[in-house]
Amino acid sequence: MKITIAGDHGAFELKKEIIKHLEEKEGYKIINLGVDNGESVDYPAYAQKLCNTIIEKEAERGILLCGTGLGMSIAANRFKGIRGALCHDEYTARMSRQHNDANVLILGARTTGLATALAIVDVWLAEEFEGGRHQRRLDKIEL
Ligand code: RB5
Repeated sequence: MKITIAGDHGAFELKKEIIKHLEEKEGYKIINLGVDNGESVDYPAYAQKLCNTIIEKEAERGILLCGTGLGMSIAANRFKGIRGALCHDEYTARMSRQHNDANVLILGARTTGLATALAIVDVWLAEEFEGGRHQRRLDKIEL
């Protein structure tokens, strides 16, 4: 599975950990879209860059990170075809896949500890969309 990942300065360390974690596993190709240091950047530019890779089908899933996850969440969900889910635990990660078919996972580096963040990533990548009534509901969003 091809996954793009991006974040702002508030989350570059978490991004590095997530990339390392996923590169140790089989079956994932991770494409890092930056930023890779603590120099202040504006998160909407990174949200746009990553969302375009999903919309253009250059990657199947995306992971966006910022300090709280809020800015990335607001920005990502402005793009047609993007279903971004800000997750704080394994349950919301699971539901975001099973019920919402989230194609972008969003995490807050200042609100979520490393172990929880990695557990969320694993659950989110493993879970499948259930379709059925959930697809009907998604169709009502994607007008
Ligand atoms: C940057 O300081 C911070 O505002 C950003 O990472 C994010 O939390 C915005 O929602």
